[in-house]
Amino acid sequence: MPTARRPARGPTVRRNRDADWNAWPVDAYLAENYRRMHPCDIGVIHHHSAFYRTSAPGSVARSLELGAGPNLYPLMLAAGTARRIDALEPGSAGRDYLRRQLEHGPEDSWQPFYALCRALDPTLPATLPEALARVRVVAGGAGDLPDGAYDTASMNFVAESVTEDFGEFTSLCEAFVHAVRPGGRLVASFMERMPSYRIGGGPVWPACPVDETALRAVFAPRTTGLRISRLAKDRTLPEYGDTGVLLLTAERPAP
Ligand SMILES: C[S@@+](CC[C@H](N)C(=O)[O-])C[C@H]1O[C@@H](n2cnc3c(N)ncnc32)[C@H](O)[C@@H]1O
Repeated sequence: MPTARRPARGPTVRRNRDADWNAWPVDAYLAENYRRMHPCDIGVIHHHSAFYRTSAPGSVARSLELGAGPNLYPLMLAAGTARRIDALEPGSAGRDYLRRQLEHGPEDSWQPFYALCRALDPTLPATLPEALARVRVVAGGAGDLPDGAYDTASMNFVAESVTEDFGEFTSLCEAFVHAVRPGGRLVASFMERMPSYRIGGGPVWPACPVDETALRAVFAPRTTGLRISRLAKDRTLPEYGDTGVLLLTAERPAP
């Protein structure tokens, strides 16, 4: 008697929920990316600082950092304009690190980053702890965001670095856009064309390779004033398989 043939299985696409974000390797990630300032950090800081400098100091009531992880420099930059910054992070390891930086003072390795942020924006508070006093660490991810709760939102190396599913990448970006009120402003950075990756020889984390065309396809129908630029590949970083960094600013359209 013939037996039914099982359908051939295609390659498994790993979605956001398939990775354990509580186990994000904070120490190895910091060692590879943020213990010293890399050329791409300098490029991101210049880009984001110019974005924030177009708003008056203290003029923004609430700012969001989506998927904050253990990276302090986006929070430093937002402190130029925001009275309160919510660092939203689903992973407990990332949240624990952030809370330690806020409660016990930032590690010395962050000082050069703050010196650059403050050189570009002298209206930033005199010290890094003062800047970080505006930050509140919040548990959650893109799916937990209320519509329109923020005036500005920032997202760095998140939507493309947490899923292999391009549809889910689009949904994460859409949640990012909808996090700000109509007319609210967005700033973001993305690894360009980065496939799924390892940190410190650990497990593979899911990623979705995106280029400028993909970003335009996702953001152009959902935003106004879209601007995208790019930084050359940073060869001082470990080989993540990327081709550079894409930088984005836009606004959520007014109704
Ligand atoms: C590559 S790291 C980037 C961290 C940090 N933003 C930076 O600039 O280095 C990706 C971060 O996204 C977080 N993340 C994972 N799933 C998420 C989701 N659904 N919503 C928001 N953040 C998420 C991870 O926990 C991790 O901290």
